[in-house]
Amino acid sequence: MERFFIQGGKALRGELKIDTAKNSILPLMAASIMVEGVTTFQNVTRYSDVLVMSKIIESLGAVVSWDGDSLIIDSRELSGSSVLNELAGKLRASVFLLGPVLARQKTAKIAYPGGCEIGLRPIDIHLDGLKALGAKVIDKNGYIYASADKMRGGDYALRFASVGATENIMMAAVLTKGQTRIYNAAKEPEIVDLACYLNKCGAKISGAGSSVITIEGVKKLSRSVKFRPLGDRIIAGTMLLACAACGGEITLKNAKAEHNEALIAKLSQSACQFDIKSDKIKMRSYGRLKSFGSVETATYPGIPTDLQPQIVALQCVSDGCCMIVENLFESRFKHAAELMKMGADITLKNNVCLTRGRDKLYGAEVKASDLRGGAALVIAGLAAEGYTTVEGVEFIDRGYYELEKQICLLGGDMKREKI
Ligand code: UD1
Repeated sequence: MERFFIQGGKALRGELKIDTAKNSILPLMAASIMVEGVTTFQNVTRYSDVLVMSKIIESLGAVVSWDGDSLIIDSRELSGSSVLNELAGKLRASVFLLGPVLARQKTAKIAYPGGCEIGLRPIDIHLDGLKALGAKVIDKNGYIYASADKMRGGDYALRFASVGATENIMMAAVLTKGQTRIYNAAKEPEIVDLACYLNKCGAKISGAGSSVITIEGVKKLSRSVKFRPLGDRIIAGTMLLACAACGGEITLKNAKAEHNEALIAKLSQSACQFDIKSDKIKMRSYGRLKSFGSVETATYPGIPTDLQPQIVALQCVSDGCCMIVENLFESRFKHAAELMKMGADITLKNNVCLTRGRDKLYGAEVKASDLRGGAALVIAGLAAEGYTTVEGVEFIDRGYYELEKQICLLGGDMKREKI
């Protein structure tokens, strides 16, 4: 087991290149098994979730290898159509394989995905969407069995703009005869990334990034392509929030400001200064910031739920009160109790968190119980007086690669130690 040891109170200064978007590369890896060719994903970060997804697609017969930071997936021969519980249980994103396996193999047996640390996370919209395209779907004994014999393109309106369901239905429709229209589709940049990759491989997808996506089914995808996924907007947002909490001046490369517009607007109102170039964000933060006042999570382009915990951490040291409303996941405030151990003044009621900013937080022994909640504890530790230890590093590693080294590059004092 490992933990982070953080000596707080240092301003952050310097330049950092933002890693590959975890939420792009995971669905991209799932999509690559539909391609009867070899895909080279460039500049890929080895998050622990990426390594688990590699194992899952290898279990389906794909050949996965690395060449430096290029991840090469050869799916010319695909032998399997089942994803068993021992692998699916380790990764929520395993559900992304349902659409691609069904499309390529015409049958799929996928164990229910794991990870429920932030809420129930049902998959009814994924399944309803596939059924709307004519798939036969049976949900039995912890597995989803699906067959594609009668699949045809069709129209489907999501009852909620779910990211994963939009991606799953879009992937399945790529190899399904006829035209599919997805209404009330999610608009996240990672969906645009996925559509760009699939189109490069020969798919016919239009409208990704808007609320209506149209897919003309093709017989097969057979082009071998190179593709470089997006930079991670949640890591970029985490670093901006860390600098806002600690003070300093940072420049993020491989980071598009337009992907974090809602957050940058809030930080600007709180007195952070920005200098923005096409894929570079420079931010300065001096002195104690004004609180955000109120903020609520929403689908893109709103404030992402994946930045809510880190925003709570910043509000705990900002000047004034803030009401933070979590609209996407029902139990996503587990970090609050840990922040209170550091002296934070927080009141929680259902999906609303009220913070009253303190002059200071104090170092403490805290424990992460999910990925982004863990990032929030790191931010609090960096801003606090004294030292903080953060357990539960395995959650943080799922979506931040060697976070301690990135923070050190920016002048923070953080190390990983065995316990
Ligand atoms: C993706 C992201 C995750 C992010 C989330 C919301 C990946 C790998 N993960 O997760 O980091 O927090 O988007 O931006 O991209 N829902 C249903 N039924 C369904 C599917 C979803 O009720 O079938 C609900 C969920 O419970 C939740 C909401 O829809 O309340 C949003 O979930 P969704 O957009 O599907 O999130 P994920 O795709 O799982």
